Amino acid sequence: MHIKKPQFSAEKLRRFLLKPVLFLLASSPAGWLLYDALNGQLSANPIEDLTYRSGDWALRFLLITLALSPLKNATGWTFLIRYRRMLGLFAFFYVLLHFLIWLALDHYWEFSEISEDIVKRPYITVGFSAFIMLLALALTSTRKAMRKLGRNWKKLHQLIYPAAVLAVLHYLWLVKADILQPLIYAGVLVFLLLARRIKETQK
Ligand code: HEM
Repeated sequence: MHIKKPQFSAEKLRRFLLKPVLFLLASSPAGWLLYDALNGQLSANPIEDLTYRSGDWALRFLLITLALSPLKNATGWTFLIRYRRMLGLFAFFYVLLHFLIWLALDHYWEFSEISEDIVKRPYITVGFSAFIMLLALALTSTRKAMRKLGRNWKKLHQLIYPAAVLAVLHYLWLVKADILQPLIYAGVLVFLLLARRIKETQK
């Protein structure tokens, strides 16, 4: 009798493990934030701490999502594209958290104050615009929306680029003294946008 041996290829193992591992890694900043908040391990200004840390992770995941395509082109690792949607949704998750912390802990859901801030403070206007763009992308990230929108889906999802530019601008605008951190994020974004342009001109 011929018994078929199970085949354990590196590809199968990667398919099986990479997604849950990435999911756990991407969730860990939120877990860590929650842990610090519940255990009184935030700084003397906990609201500022929560706002900053969620904002930082939102921006990091936005840039990680944008980096997948150039990384795939540079390395030939086509499998990276499979994780773009998940990581993009994590970027949205951290932005949503950042926004909700601002709404609830900074403004106590005072809608007149909130709308005034959105209109009158340029860094909030810019951050809010980026948030709305990412909301549109998150809401249309399902297969069903992809089918319904057809060719327009790809066009709509190009919004990730202006959203990232606005997010970096938001950061550059709000810092008062040490501009180094936002400049590093801006440099990474410019590099990723240039990498995309180079690929387009080669087509
Ligand atoms: C894509 C959207 C957004 C991203 C990526 C983002 C990212 C960031 C980052 C990186 C910081 C600075 C963190 C630090 O200094 O370590 C920050 C701060 C902040 N963000 Fe956002 N943000 C976004 C949208 C928003 C929105 C929609 C609001 C509110 C409407 C908002 C309100 C704030 C506030 C109040 C601060 C702290 C400002 C200060 O105290 O100086 N952000 N954000």
